[in-house]
Amino acid sequence: MKIAIGSDHAGTESKTRLVKRLTEAHHEVRDLGTNGPESVDYPDYAEAVGRAVSSGAADFGLLICGTGIGMCITANKVPGVRAAKCNDAFEARMCRAHNNANVLCLGERVLDAAVLDELVDVFLAEPFEGGRHERRVNKMNALDASTPGSSTES
Ligand code: RB5
Repeated sequence: MKIAIGSDHAGTESKTRLVKRLTEAHHEVRDLGTNGPESVDYPDYAEAVGRAVSSGAADFGLLICGTGIGMCITANKVPGVRAAKCNDAFEARMCRAHNNANVLCLGERVLDAAVLDELVDVFLAEPFEGGRHERRVNKMNALDASTPGSSTES
């Protein structure tokens, strides 16, 4: 799988660990930063990962900040992105199965490292169920398509 990953300064520890884990699991990982301890602005990384996913350059995106909230709010402004902030394995599974989420947002200051890693594994493994959920996801995508300037179509 092609995975784009990004974090702000509050998520670099998790990002470094995830890049290693996912690369070892033979995923194609694109690390879009940040890679230092300096304070940075999470929207810059959320936009970069969101655009990688919406363009098709990546199958999925992973975003980590302190809470996951800022990343999620920002990523969802990129047309074609369906980002979910998850705190447990049930949410990570359901956002794929029912919402066809393509970006997972996580909070390094919220989750234990082992839980955070588990949520990534669950998210990447769970297929979209389709069926009645497809109709609902199409309605979300239609909002993107109706946004002036959006090139995304559902
Ligand atoms: C940075 O201090 C923090 O605000 C950021 O990582 C994130 O939690 C925002 O949603």
